[in-house]
Amino acid sequence: MKDFEFMLAPMEDYTDNAFRELCFNHGADLTFTEMTRLTGLIRNNKSTERRIEILNNVPTQIQLAAKNEDHLKLFLKKFKPTEGFQGINFNLGCPSPHLIKIGLGCALMKRISKVNRLVQIVKNNGFSCSIKMRLGLNQYEKEKFVYLNLLKNVDADFFIIHARHGKEDYESKADDKIYPECVDTGKTIIANGDIDSVEKVNYMKKLGVKGVMIGRAAVCNPSIFEQLKGHTSTDIKTLKSEYVSLIKKYPHINNKYYVNIMKRIGSTQNAFPEQVMG
Ligand SMILES: Cc1cc2nc3c(=O)[nH]c(=O)nc-3n(C[C@H](O)[C@H](O)[C@H](O)COP(=O)(O)O)c2cc1C
Repeated sequence: MKDFEFMLAPMEDYTDNAFRELCFNHGADLTFTEMTRLTGLIRNNKSTERRIEILNNVPTQIQLAAKNEDHLKLFLKKFKPTEGFQGINFNLGCPSPHLIKIGLGCALMKRISKVNRLVQIVKNNGFSCSIKMRLGLNQYEKEKFVYLNLLKNVDADFFIIHARHGKEDYESKADDKIYPECVDTGKTIIANGDIDSVEKVNYMKKLGVKGVMIGRAAVCNPSIFEQLKGHTSTDIKTLKSEYVSLIKKYPHINNKYYVNIMKRIGSTQNAFPEQVMG
């Protein structure tokens, strides 16, 4: 890992190969596939498999919503890493009631032993493993420091903290005050939530986090990574035409990604639908 990393957030129906490549070409150090259910992969569901395909050399972690250890072992046994593959990320941040009900997403945050076993399975296969999490399922869990307990007791390579709990939507501000205590655990922390300016990045650096992850602001302006790194930025017209060329490189990919990106690229941040995935 570099001294300080800029990561593109996983975003369902947005972060396909073309968009990840665009952001990588404009400064993102690491990208993530959208959240994919391990159960779908075990069933060899073709459309599920397509969500985790890495078709380029863009550094990418595959994000899984997973809890079954045998399924994970089975998946990893068959899995053939391609050039860009940089490890597995577990989603412990999705607050969707459907996912919570089946014990996935935020519901996994308290299951320390299970999460550790999942992480170990990934590591035993020789892969890097990270966690993307919130501050807990709700305010109560946040106040009980469920997130600190997870950080202290899980042995992942790095932890991306979306600084909201599972009942908070994007109207509430991400809570930056939690980072110093998280950093004090000695774990590698990546900050996420509302990060869209050099000032915020500098503030995060001061707090001791090792990187930032950017979601919505990158869809609106994929050149944000080079901007935040102090490099020359690229105008939206150029970005759009580069994206269109990239889309042509991946002809079998579902058109919905293209439609979503073209709708939002160049717009102002927060103009997003109700979707709150992680
Ligand atoms: C449209 C959309 C889809 C998302 N899909 C995922 C996902 O698949 N997995 C995940 O961990 N988080 C997902 N998220 C959450 C983002 O990764 C990120 O944590 C959140 O947007 C906060 O970062 P931001 O303020 O930089 O956008 C999604 C967010 C949005 C807006």
